[in-house]
Amino acid sequence: MNATTVTTDTVDLADPATFADHDLTEFWRTLRDTSPVRWNPPTRQRRGFWVLSRHADIMAVHRDDENFTSERGNVLVTLLEGGDAGAGKMLAVTDGPRHEQLRKILLRALGPRVLKPVADAVRANTRQLVREAVARGDCDFALEIASRIPMTTISNLLGVPESDRDFLLTQTKTALSADDDAIDEEESAMARNEILLYFQDLVEERRTAPGEDLISTLAQSTVDGAPLSDEDVVLNCYSLIIGGDETSRLTMIDSVYSLAAHPEQWRRLKDGDCGIDTAVDEVLRWASPSMHFGRTAVRDTEIEGVRIAKNEIVTLWHSSANRDERVFDQPDVFDLGRTPNRQIAFGYGPHFCVGSYLARIEISELLMALRDFTVGFERTGEAPRVRSNLLNGFHSLPVRFHPDRAGLARDDNLSGAK
Ligand code: HEM
Repeated sequence: MNATTVTTDTVDLADPATFADHDLTEFWRTLRDTSPVRWNPPTRQRRGFWVLSRHADIMAVHRDDENFTSERGNVLVTLLEGGDAGAGKMLAVTDGPRHEQLRKILLRALGPRVLKPVADAVRANTRQLVREAVARGDCDFALEIASRIPMTTISNLLGVPESDRDFLLTQTKTALSADDDAIDEEESAMARNEILLYFQDLVEERRTAPGEDLISTLAQSTVDGAPLSDEDVVLNCYSLIIGGDETSRLTMIDSVYSLAAHPEQWRRLKDGDCGIDTAVDEVLRWASPSMHFGRTAVRDTEIEGVRIAKNEIVTLWHSSANRDERVFDQPDVFDLGRTPNRQIAFGYGPHFCVGSYLARIEISELLMALRDFTVGFERTGEAPRVRSNLLNGFHSLPVRFHPDRAGLARDDNLSGAK
């Protein structure tokens, strides 16, 4: 668990160890109060970058696609490397009119109307996984439940065959966050490449034999009157897998971790004293699974009176914004009934998460399944953290579930009645 407290002078936010080994609560509070636009100095290996910690400043940069671009990367890894190979092709790292058109295609494919059958499948899958785990009693929630919800959902959307899903899950975990200290950047790069190659094959297949899936939709779509190239389709599939799996999975794991640690909040959920939608917003705020995003200044500009030079990197720390006392009453209290809740886990402005509707379905189905099938649960061992400067959360979470026999029986009756 996060243990040591750090001082503002010693923290390097590019270093994954900073997050794995330290409690940054005080650090972020100090930054918000005294240095809301802070310079993270360069090291011998990499350049320096700006760090924004206040909710209002982060929203302002998210909104401002005149002064800031996503096309030179939108997370530290790519920003520090000097760019993203998907620039101008992959939604998250494309700006301007092309971004707008591509976004429309994806929003249509990920909107409420189209997602109805997907939502039904998420519900059935989540309820079955939770029921099975409750029947077993003990499980690793991260591996046995959370790993099997978002990846199954996105794979269904993209039409990824069942037999390939474990392969993709392993590659995704290696590509983004290191669950294992032994995984280095070279291995992560190889995993990213494996995912791209995998989708290249699938795109070729769908061009010859289109189906109802999202890959076929993308393969038949046009932007500016020209069909999307194979590379465009592959990069966007990659981004959906990467963007849609880890973040939702880590939020689910964090929900169970936090509910086990806050029994009084669990009781409110169980007793129906707070709405599911309100609870979903709070677990998103609390988990803040993607800690930062980032932009590059395209011209000299200013934030809070601090001069930002053209080409400098500005990082936006959602994990801090979501605890900003200027916006949230008692931000360090986990409160499932919190309203209003202006959490920005999904970002804001032109790049606001296109998968937010789907992610909300996944998280709410999990909370409802827990509420219906268990009277409570507790952590039975250590929950190791992912080692990353981007993602926040746990890659393993041993828990023991106590069955709600009446709730299980009610669900049996309902299923029987259908
Ligand atoms: C964008 C967070 C789930 C696909 C974003 C952004 C954030 C975010 C903060 C904005 C990035 C930026 O401003 O540069 C999350 C969280 C999720 C989640 C916290 C779950 C709890 C999903 C899912 C999908 C997805 C399920 C896909 C099905 C995307 C894509 C973008 C995006 C494609 C780029 C949008 C654009 O640039 O216009 N997400 N996301 N995300 N997300 Fe999500």
